Amino acid sequence: MFSTPFVLTFSLLLSLPILFLLAPRILPPKPHSLAISPADELDDINLFNRAITHSTNSHSNNNPSKFFHLSSKKPSLKIAFLFLTNTDLHFAPLWDLFFLNTPTNLYNIYIHADPSVNLTRPLSPLFKSKFIPSKRTFRASPTLISATRRLLATALLDDPANSYFALLSQHCVPLHSFSYTYRSLFLSPTFDSSDPESSRFGIRLKYKSFIEILSSGPKLWKRYISRGRYAMMPEIPFQHFRVGSQFFTLTRRHALLVVKDRTLWRKFKIPCYRDDECYPEEHYFPTLLSMQDPLGCTKYTLTRVNWTGTVNGHPYTYRPPHVSPDLILRLRHSNHSESYLFARKFSPDCLDPLMRIANSFIFKD
Ligand SMILES: *[C@@H]1O[C@H](CO)[C@@H](O)[C@H](O)[C@H]1NC(C)=O
Ligand SMILES: *[C@@H]1O[C@H](CO)[C@@H](O)[C@H](O)[C@H]1NC(C)=O
Ligand SMILES: *[C@@H]1O[C@H](CO)[C@@H](O)[C@H](O)[C@H]1NC(C)=O
Repeated sequence: MFSTPFVLTFSLLLSLPILFLLAPRILPPKPHSLAISPADELDDINLFNRAITHSTNSHSNNNPSKFFHLSSKKPSLKIAFLFLTNTDLHFAPLWDLFFLNTPTNLYNIYIHADPSVNLTRPLSPLFKSKFIPSKRTFRASPTLISATRRLLATALLDDPANSYFALLSQHCVPLHSFSYTYRSLFLSPTFDSSDPESSRFGIRLKYKSFIEILSSGPKLWKRYISRGRYAMMPEIPFQHFRVGSQFFTLTRRHALLVVKDRTLWRKFKIPCYRDDECYPEEHYFPTLLSMQDPLGCTKYTLTRVNWTGTVNGHPYTYRPPHVSPDLILRLRHSNHSESYLFARKFSPDCLDPLMRIANSFIFKD
């Protein structure tokens, strides 16, 4: 027979490794400064509910094409430009040129600026951009999803003519004039190569969301389990988990779908165990849209980004010596549409060289 002290010691020793193995499953994720507070969550839910009620009542969640048939006067579909920034808007003067001389019934501008920064470089007051009520955002946290949904909800509420919603950051630059951008999104039958019918009939028949949706990628599994092995179940089995660029252009119907979602948000708002495998905003939107309306999405983005030689989850950053008409031409080239419309990431000091080729090259179409 074993003596009692021996059994005790033995079972204690045995339980140590077991605790180590099970700890991540039993213990809640470490309290993270990045978790979303109930007060912030409530503010958002109130905003989202107002946007949903408003959009449902005003019958404005139609496909943009309906506007063409319903309105007797010249249709006025708008692009909502949504700037999500946690620094100054480095390229405000370039965007000023982009919007200059554009009829104001073709766009709106909304800015979610992290309240911890002071914007010394706002867009020109001419364009009546609106600063929306904003909260702090952090990398590797669901706060970036919340900020994006806040932008979408505010733009839905603000103007029923907002028909495409383009998300941009302070590092994004336009690759074409406003008029080219507008024609590509609303009019061109040949712009989107995922829509061969429009091209065949010579008239735009479909309005899809331009959002990258990929079903494979490095570390996809690690990112899936970054909140715990079974955390996403049962709502999101691994085979439905998607990844894509954070920057997209959504139709109004999809903007509303995103603001309505509660089910996937309940999962994606859970903080991750590890920051280096946690990019909720690159997964939430592609996964949600791919689960709910895959055929309504082009599955590619209009925002060019260079992931060659990525460091620490950051894409390649262009510096002043790189900026030239030739670079713009190369960045426009897309395998999925007639052109990319936006690009990132540019260092702030690229402003001067970009301004020098703005009117003579970038906006000359
Ligand atoms: C922003 O400006 C205010 C008032 O000018 C100042 O008190 C604050 O420190 C500034 N914050 C940052 C992050 O620069
Ligand atoms: C992408 O970045 C790499 C460096 O990582 C660079 O060599 C290449 O020229 C860039 N591609 C474009 C189209 O700018
Ligand atoms: C387009 O496809 C080619 C061939 O697969 C690839 O080398 C190139 O990087 C792609 N271009 C972009 C902008 O993704």
